[in-house]
Amino acid sequence: MNSDAKTTDLRQVVAAVSAALTYPAVEELPGVFERQVQQLLSMRAVRLREIPARYQARLVTPTRTPESIVVGVPTADPGVQAVLEASFDRGRTLDERDFELLTAAAQLGGLVLEAARRWSPARPALPPGASPLVGSSPRMAALRDHVARVAQTDFTVLIEGESGTGKELVARQIHELSRRWKGPFVAVNCAAVVETLLEAELFGIEERTATGVRGRRGKFEYADGGTLFLDEVSDLALSAQAKLLRAIQDLAVERVGTTGTRRVNTRIVAATNRPLAGLVEGGLFRADLFYRLSGVDLYVPALRERREDIPELAAHFLEHHRATRPLALSDGALDALRVYDWPGNVRELERLIERAVALAGGHQIDLDDLPPQVRGQHRDVLVPSIAAGDSMRAWASRYARLVFERCGRNKKVAARQLEISYHTLDAYLRFTEAPRAVNRRLPRWVRPDEAPGRSSGE
Ligand SMILES: Nc1ncnc2c1ncn2[C@@H]1O[C@H](COP(=O)(O)OP(=O)(O)OP(=O)(O)O)[C@@H](O)[C@H]1O
Ligand SMILES: [Mg+2]
Repeated sequence: MNSDAKTTDLRQVVAAVSAALTYPAVEELPGVFERQVQQLLSMRAVRLREIPARYQARLVTPTRTPESIVVGVPTADPGVQAVLEASFDRGRTLDERDFELLTAAAQLGGLVLEAARRWSPARPALPPGASPLVGSSPRMAALRDHVARVAQTDFTVLIEGESGTGKELVARQIHELSRRWKGPFVAVNCAAVVETLLEAELFGIEERTATGVRGRRGKFEYADGGTLFLDEVSDLALSAQAKLLRAIQDLAVERVGTTGTRRVNTRIVAATNRPLAGLVEGGLFRADLFYRLSGVDLYVPALRERREDIPELAAHFLEHHRATRPLALSDGALDALRVYDWPGNVRELERLIERAVALAGGHQIDLDDLPPQVRGQHRDVLVPSIAAGDSMRAWASRYARLVFERCGRNKKVAARQLEISYHTLDAYLRFTEAPRAVNRRLPRWVRPDEAPGRSSGE
């Protein structure tokens, strides 16, 4: 083929992309571009996507496998790397023309991504009534920012984070803030569906009047025009992983009992509380599916990694129950919430507030109203000092000594952790004081009959 014919070919792609720019409501730009390139080169599927920073170093393009080729896409931002990926049937050979066209299309792809980013008609704010992602810590602010940015795109997103950190909430926000917000948000808990039924659940089943099998749509089809949320994706059986990979690659599903495929326009958001990279190493998760899902990753930090959000979240949940019972948290109770480790993360805090709203005796939630495991840590730290009538200085020196021991008796490291000077730390470490008599009335949670270890338990 001469170079004129090649230009004509690409001209069709350019024409379709500019038409989509003129009538933005019809289909998103990258989708139009992908479909055009796919038709032009007779590929099985073509995807244009960004690679997150942490995988960039590993990527060498063009990269080929027997069924796919990945070509680098130029981007305006040096921190962003993008690729054009084409998959084809095994056995097909790519000639020089295919390579040249793909490379030229990849150049155009950079422009398409940039244009899509600039005018994406996504939703600017959450709809009224949608649950907000509460938390002002820098990590939550960064997460909200990332959520808003990935919502502008149609890329597959993988959300990682411990149980109860808010992964589903993040997935819903991605949907609500995207241009798909009017479409459905369909959640599938991969861990809850029996392996044998999963395929029909995801991809649907074809009607077979002869055998009496009733046809139905799968979740992929239900989510057409919207977002499919695959929760606990790490629990998918290996056989289901293969089918999911195929569906994501081709954006088409094959109902159980048929051979024909149906195209679906579904954005995929997956979540896991077990890091997928580790499962890939252990052979429990397909590497190709992992790389397909983890194009864009979001990590939802554990609550103990952002303790400054605890008071705000507690206030948010209390506000939620204001109509049932208007309650406040005492300072002591709030301190206890701050030092607790929250293995169940935000969900545990939400349940704790519900429990307190149901059980608290007065108008505020006191330390005594908290479950023993939460109250315990706070009491273990404070009770000995209160019972001994420690001065502020004595208490601080006890704490300084503890941190010093934990830092391997390294004064420099301990001083940095305590945010005090080396000399102040030295002074605390040298400080000793005879215990003083306590003649105040102690709060109930410090009194001997309630002391740790002798608690009546709950
Ligand atoms: N930042 C937040 N602001 C407000 N509510 C939150 C926040 N994070 C989590 N929640 C609430 O905590 C509960 C648990 O969140 P979610 O179900 O999204 O967690 P998850 O990470 O999907 O948990 P799991 O891994 O167990 O499925 C939900 O009721 C959610 O609304
Ligand atoms: Mg969840």
